[in-house]
Amino acid sequence: VKKIILDCDPGHDDAIALMMAVASPEIDLLAVTASAGNQTPQKTLNNVLRMLTLLGQTDIPVAGGNQKPLLQDLQVAASVHGETGLDGATLPEPGFAAQSITAVELIAKTLRASTVPVTLVVTGPMTNAALFLSVHPELRSKIAQIVFMGGAMGLGNWTPQVEFNMFVDPEAAKIVFDAGIPLVMAGLDVTHKAQILPADVIAFRELNNPVALAIADLLDFYHIYYSQPKWGFKGTPVHDPCTLAWLIAPEMFTSVKRPLDIETTGKLTRGETIVDYYELTGEPANAKILLDIDREKFVDLLAQCLQTFA
Ligand code: BDR
Ligand code: CA
Repeated sequence: VKKIILDCDPGHDDAIALMMAVASPEIDLLAVTASAGNQTPQKTLNNVLRMLTLLGQTDIPVAGGNQKPLLQDLQVAASVHGETGLDGATLPEPGFAAQSITAVELIAKTLRASTVPVTLVVTGPMTNAALFLSVHPELRSKIAQIVFMGGAMGLGNWTPQVEFNMFVDPEAAKIVFDAGIPLVMAGLDVTHKAQILPADVIAFRELNNPVALAIADLLDFYHIYYSQPKWGFKGTPVHDPCTLAWLIAPEMFTSVKRPLDIETTGKLTRGETIVDYYELTGEPANAKILLDIDREKFVDLLAQCLQTFA
């Protein structure tokens, strides 16, 4: 069983990652922190609380994160996730409150209390993770690895070369990549292959429990953005759940270990992740880069997780 802290910005795909973290017997979800990204920090925090209420997990410690990226202003993804950040589903109002400490302090407190190293899963911009690493260097050894959704090896989804989470806070990603902690990157290379087809959503809906129905509603809304012809997708890529899927069933993936860095100054490429695929730099291979996923097994895993809420 892997102990994790999930730092996320729900976000439709973040909400599915949260569902998996709660459902899977392989995962022990110690705490959830909200980041500013897909929507404002107030909205993403509220969405974490609403989702955990839906999932029946009102005892998990939750905290809100930094209000904005380290250097630049926050840019949200309302065009993808709607005005609430989780448009398309009717979710319960929060049945509990966030802790009165910051995300950074909740991460610190959780790590201090754990007797074994904990995996930090980041599915939004890396602001909270970077602040945590900067403020609490003494706790770095308590982090087993950082598994994150972001970046790509040469593609972008927000600008031609830049993925959204990296776009929002490139300086934060730079701090995380340079921290000397093992990294696992679920970038667009793999997440664009983790597509949920319309028929899969119908099958989820047929599970007919409140969580499966809400997730199906979220997926229907999420599909609107990704059904634009420019993407050329048959279904909806659900990016963030790839992090949880890798923790639960790594055999579903192919990957390579390579040096990973991020461009923070380029005019057209600020936020572009740089994977040294041919190992030209001689830098240490600090990241496992996920490249491919067995889509059918991934969909089966999601269905299995959804079934647990019957
Ligand atoms: C990432 O950006 C957000 O819109 C999603 O939640 C995901 O984390 C994909 O680029
Ligand atoms: Ca996200």
